[in-house]
Amino acid sequence: MSVIELHDVKYVYQTQYQRTEALRGISYTFEPGRVYAILGSSGSGKTTLLSLMAGLDVPTDGIVLCEGVSTADIDLEQYRRERVAMIYQDFRLFPLLTAVENVMYPIELRGMKPAEAKNRSIELLKKVGLPETVLDRFPAMLSGGEQQRVAIARALGMETKLLLADEPTGNLDSQNGETVFKILEDLAHEDGYCVVIVTHDEDLAKHADESIRLHDGEIAES
Ligand SMILES: Nc1ncnc2c1ncn2[C@@H]1O[C@H](COP(=O)(O)OP(=O)(O)OP(=O)(O)O)[C@@H](O)[C@H]1O
Ligand SMILES: [Mg+2]
Repeated sequence: MSVIELHDVKYVYQTQYQRTEALRGISYTFEPGRVYAILGSSGSGKTTLLSLMAGLDVPTDGIVLCEGVSTADIDLEQYRRERVAMIYQDFRLFPLLTAVENVMYPIELRGMKPAEAKNRSIELLKKVGLPETVLDRFPAMLSGGEQQRVAIARALGMETKLLLADEPTGNLDSQNGETVFKILEDLAHEDGYCVVIVTHDEDLAKHADESIRLHDGEIAES
Protein backbone atom coordinates (compact mmCIF):
# COMPACT_ATOMS: atom_id res chain seq x y z
CA MET A 1 0.00 0.00 0.00
CA SER A 2 1.20 3.50 -0.73
CA VAL A 3 2.10 5.77 2.15
CA ILE A 4 0.77 8.90 0.53
CA GLU A 5 -0.94 9.71 -2.76
CA LEU A 6 -1.56 13.04 -4.44
CA HIS A 7 -4.49 13.27 -6.83
CA ASP A 8 -4.61 16.36 -9.03
CA VAL A 9 -3.50 18.54 -6.13
CA LYS A 10 -3.83 22.28 -6.57
CA TYR A 11 -2.94 24.99 -4.12
CA VAL A 12 -3.62 28.70 -4.31
CA TYR A 13 -2.17 31.35 -2.01
CA GLN A 14 -4.72 34.10 -1.87
CA THR A 15 -3.78 37.38 -0.25
CA GLN A 16 -5.65 40.64 -0.38
CA TYR A 17 -3.71 41.79 -3.44
CA GLN A 18 -2.48 38.64 -5.09
CA ARG A 19 -3.47 35.17 -6.09
CA THR A 20 -0.65 32.66 -6.66
CA GLU A 21 -1.33 29.25 -8.10
CA ALA A 22 1.54 27.47 -6.37
CA LEU A 23 0.47 23.94 -7.41
CA ARG A 24 -1.49 23.33 -10.60
CA GLY A 25 -2.52 19.70 -10.56
CA ILE A 26 0.05 17.32 -9.08
CA SER A 27 -0.56 13.58 -9.04
CA TYR A 28 1.97 11.16 -7.59
CA THR A 29 2.18 8.04 -5.45
CA PHE A 30 4.76 7.61 -2.69
CA GLU A 31 5.63 4.09 -1.57
CA PRO A 32 7.36 2.82 1.56
CA GLY A 33 11.03 1.88 1.33
CA ARG A 34 11.88 4.53 -1.24
CA VAL A 35 13.65 7.88 -1.39
CA TYR A 36 12.05 10.63 -3.46
CA ALA A 37 13.86 13.82 -4.43
CA ILE A 38 11.78 16.88 -5.24
CA LEU A 39 13.67 19.28 -7.47
CA GLY A 40 12.81 22.55 -9.16
CA SER A 41 13.77 26.20 -9.27
CA SER A 42 12.90 28.69 -6.55
CA GLY A 43 9.16 29.30 -6.42
CA SER A 44 8.28 26.13 -8.34
CA GLY A 45 6.13 24.84 -5.46
CA LYS A 46 8.40 22.39 -3.62
CA THR A 47 7.80 23.65 -0.09
CA THR A 48 4.09 24.05 -0.77
CA LEU A 49 3.92 20.42 -1.90
CA LEU A 50 5.79 19.22 1.17
CA SER A 51 3.54 21.32 3.43
CA LEU A 52 0.43 19.63 2.07
CA MET A 53 2.02 16.21 2.59
CA ALA A 54 2.93 17.33 6.13
CA GLY A 55 -0.68 18.28 6.82
CA LEU A 56 0.00 21.97 7.42
CA ASP A 57 -2.98 22.67 5.19
CA VAL A 58 -5.29 20.86 2.80
CA PRO A 59 -5.25 21.38 -0.98
CA THR A 60 -7.39 24.08 -2.55
CA ASP A 61 -8.48 21.38 -4.97
CA GLY A 62 -7.64 17.70 -5.39
CA ILE A 63 -6.84 15.15 -2.72
CA VAL A 64 -3.93 14.14 -0.50
CA LEU A 65 -4.52 10.54 0.59
CA CYS A 66 -2.55 9.18 3.51
CA GLU A 67 -2.93 5.42 3.80
CA GLY A 68 -6.20 5.73 1.97
CA VAL A 69 -7.70 8.62 3.94
CA SER A 70 -7.99 12.18 2.66
CA THR A 71 -6.26 14.82 4.80
CA ALA A 72 -9.40 16.92 4.26
CA ASP A 73 -11.41 14.39 6.30
CA ILE A 74 -9.20 14.05 9.35
CA ASP A 75 -7.96 16.04 12.32
CA LEU A 76 -4.83 17.66 10.84
CA GLU A 77 -3.25 18.27 14.23
CA GLN A 78 -3.47 14.58 15.01
CA TYR A 79 -2.19 13.76 11.52
CA ARG A 80 0.87 15.95 12.08
CA ARG A 81 1.48 14.38 15.46
CA GLU A 82 1.05 10.74 14.43
CA ARG A 83 1.73 10.37 10.72
CA VAL A 84 4.61 12.58 9.61
CA ALA A 85 8.02 13.63 10.82
CA MET A 86 9.74 16.70 9.41
CA ILE A 87 13.40 17.59 8.97
CA TYR A 88 14.38 21.16 8.14
CA GLN A 89 17.32 22.96 6.57
CA ASP A 90 17.97 24.89 9.80
CA PHE A 91 17.65 21.80 12.07
CA ARG A 92 15.20 23.46 14.50
CA LEU A 93 16.55 21.78 17.61
CA PHE A 94 15.51 23.10 21.02
CA PRO A 95 18.56 25.20 21.99
CA LEU A 96 18.17 24.72 25.74
CA LEU A 97 17.92 20.93 25.55
CA THR A 98 20.87 18.58 25.07
CA ALA A 99 21.06 16.26 22.07
CA VAL A 100 19.53 13.37 23.98
CA GLU A 101 16.85 15.62 25.54
CA ASN A 102 15.93 16.91 22.08
CA VAL A 103 15.22 13.37 20.95
CA MET A 104 13.45 12.45 24.21
CA TYR A 105 11.03 15.35 24.08
CA PRO A 106 8.53 14.09 21.47
CA ILE A 107 8.91 10.52 22.74
CA GLU A 108 7.89 11.60 26.24
CA LEU A 109 5.03 13.63 24.78
CA ARG A 110 3.76 10.39 23.29
CA GLY A 111 3.58 9.00 26.81
CA MET A 112 6.76 7.01 27.33
CA LYS A 113 8.36 7.09 30.78
CA PRO A 114 11.52 9.27 31.00
CA ALA A 115 13.97 6.44 31.68
CA GLU A 116 12.61 4.39 28.80
CA ALA A 117 12.46 7.45 26.53
CA LYS A 118 16.10 8.14 27.33
CA ASN A 119 17.18 4.63 26.35
CA ARG A 120 15.18 4.83 23.14
CA SER A 121 16.73 8.25 22.35
CA ILE A 122 20.27 6.97 22.87
CA GLU A 123 19.47 4.04 20.58
CA LEU A 124 18.20 6.44 17.88
CA LEU A 125 21.19 8.77 18.22
CA LYS A 126 23.50 5.80 17.76
CA LYS A 127 21.46 4.67 14.78
CA VAL A 128 22.25 7.95 12.99
CA GLY A 129 25.91 7.49 13.78
CA LEU A 130 26.42 9.92 16.65
CA PRO A 131 29.05 9.00 19.23
CA GLU A 132 28.29 8.77 22.95
CA THR A 133 30.44 11.88 23.55
CA VAL A 134 27.97 14.29 21.95
CA LEU A 135 24.79 13.07 23.63
CA ASP A 136 24.89 15.54 26.51
CA ARG A 137 25.92 18.55 24.45
CA PHE A 138 23.64 21.44 23.60
CA PRO A 139 22.98 22.11 19.89
CA ALA A 140 25.31 25.12 19.89
CA MET A 141 28.17 22.77 20.77
CA LEU A 142 27.53 20.49 17.79
CA SER A 143 28.58 20.82 14.14
CA GLY A 144 25.89 21.34 11.51
CA GLY A 145 26.12 17.73 10.40
CA GLU A 146 25.79 16.52 13.99
CA GLN A 147 22.82 18.81 14.61
CA GLN A 148 21.05 17.48 11.53
CA ARG A 149 21.64 13.93 12.70
CA VAL A 150 20.09 14.79 16.08
CA ALA A 151 17.12 16.24 14.17
CA ILE A 152 16.80 12.99 12.19
CA ALA A 153 16.96 10.93 15.40
CA ARG A 154 14.25 13.15 16.86
CA ALA A 155 12.12 12.63 13.75
CA LEU A 156 12.54 8.86 14.09
CA GLY A 157 11.22 9.07 17.64
CA MET A 158 7.87 10.09 16.17
CA GLU A 159 7.45 6.48 14.95
CA THR A 160 5.95 7.49 11.61
CA LYS A 161 6.43 5.91 8.19
CA LEU A 162 6.71 9.20 6.39
CA LEU A 163 9.83 11.38 6.69
CA LEU A 164 9.67 14.75 4.96
CA ALA A 165 12.80 16.83 4.61
CA ASP A 166 12.95 20.37 3.19
CA GLU A 167 16.53 21.03 2.04
CA PRO A 168 18.05 18.88 4.82
CA THR A 169 21.54 19.32 3.39
CA GLY A 170 21.15 23.00 2.48
CA ASN A 171 23.22 24.24 5.43
CA LEU A 172 25.84 21.50 5.24
CA ASP A 173 29.10 21.13 3.33
CA SER A 174 29.13 18.47 0.63
CA GLN A 175 30.72 15.81 2.84
CA ASN A 176 28.13 16.23 5.62
CA GLY A 177 25.40 16.56 3.02
CA GLU A 178 26.33 13.18 1.64
CA THR A 179 26.39 11.61 5.11
CA VAL A 180 22.93 12.96 5.92
CA PHE A 181 21.56 11.86 2.55
CA LYS A 182 23.02 8.39 3.08
CA ILE A 183 21.36 8.11 6.51
CA LEU A 184 17.99 9.01 4.97
CA GLU A 185 18.61 6.53 2.17
CA ASP A 186 19.37 3.73 4.66
CA LEU A 187 16.23 4.55 6.63
CA ALA A 188 14.19 4.03 3.48
CA HIS A 189 15.96 0.95 2.18
CA GLU A 190 16.62 -0.85 5.47
CA ASP A 191 13.74 0.26 7.69
CA GLY A 192 11.04 0.89 5.09
CA TYR A 193 10.50 4.61 5.63
CA CYS A 194 9.01 6.65 2.83
CA VAL A 195 11.52 9.52 2.56
CA VAL A 196 10.72 12.67 0.59
CA ILE A 197 13.55 15.17 0.23
CA VAL A 198 13.33 18.63 -1.29
CA THR A 199 16.77 19.54 -2.58
CA HIS A 200 18.61 21.86 -4.92
CA ASP A 201 21.52 19.46 -5.05
CA GLU A 202 21.38 17.62 -8.37
CA ASP A 203 24.26 15.31 -7.41
CA LEU A 204 22.54 14.13 -4.22
CA ALA A 205 19.23 13.79 -6.05
CA LYS A 206 20.86 11.24 -8.34
CA HIS A 207 20.99 8.85 -5.36
CA ALA A 208 17.21 9.03 -4.87
CA ASP A 209 15.05 6.19 -6.16
CA GLU A 210 12.80 8.68 -7.95
CA SER A 211 13.16 12.35 -8.79
CA ILE A 212 10.23 14.68 -9.27
CA ARG A 213 11.03 17.94 -11.00
CA LEU A 214 8.57 20.77 -10.46
CA HIS A 215 8.20 23.66 -12.83
CA ASP A 216 5.72 26.41 -12.10
CA GLY A 217 3.55 24.20 -9.90
CA GLU A 218 3.49 21.24 -12.26
CA ILE A 219 5.55 18.09 -12.61
CA ALA A 220 7.95 18.77 -15.44
CA GLU A 221 9.66 15.41 -15.30
CA SER A 222 9.89 12.37 -13.05
N1 LIG B 1 2.69 32.17 2.33
C1 LIG B 1 2.63 32.50 1.04
N2 LIG B 1 1.80 33.46 0.60
C2 LIG B 1 1.70 33.79 -0.71
N3 LIG B 1 2.42 33.18 -1.69
C3 LIG B 1 3.27 32.21 -1.31
C4 LIG B 1 3.43 31.82 0.06
N4 LIG B 1 4.37 30.83 0.13
C5 LIG B 1 4.76 30.61 -1.14
N5 LIG B 1 4.11 31.43 -2.00
C6 LIG B 1 4.27 31.46 -3.47
O1 LIG B 1 3.94 30.15 -3.98
C7 LIG B 1 4.87 29.77 -4.99
C8 LIG B 1 5.56 28.46 -4.58
O2 LIG B 1 6.34 28.71 -3.43
P1 LIG B 1 7.19 27.58 -2.66
O3 LIG B 1 7.64 28.15 -1.38
O4 LIG B 1 6.38 26.34 -2.63
O5 LIG B 1 8.41 27.39 -3.67
P2 LIG B 1 9.77 26.53 -3.51
O6 LIG B 1 9.85 25.68 -4.73
O7 LIG B 1 9.81 25.88 -2.19
O8 LIG B 1 10.89 27.65 -3.61
P3 LIG B 1 12.36 27.73 -2.89
O9 LIG B 1 13.26 26.84 -3.70
O10 LIG B 1 12.73 29.17 -3.04
O11 LIG B 1 12.22 27.30 -1.47
C9 LIG B 1 5.82 30.95 -5.18
O12 LIG B 1 5.35 31.72 -6.25
C10 LIG B 1 5.70 31.71 -3.87
O13 LIG B 1 5.95 33.07 -4.06
MG1 LIG C 1 11.06 26.03 -0.50
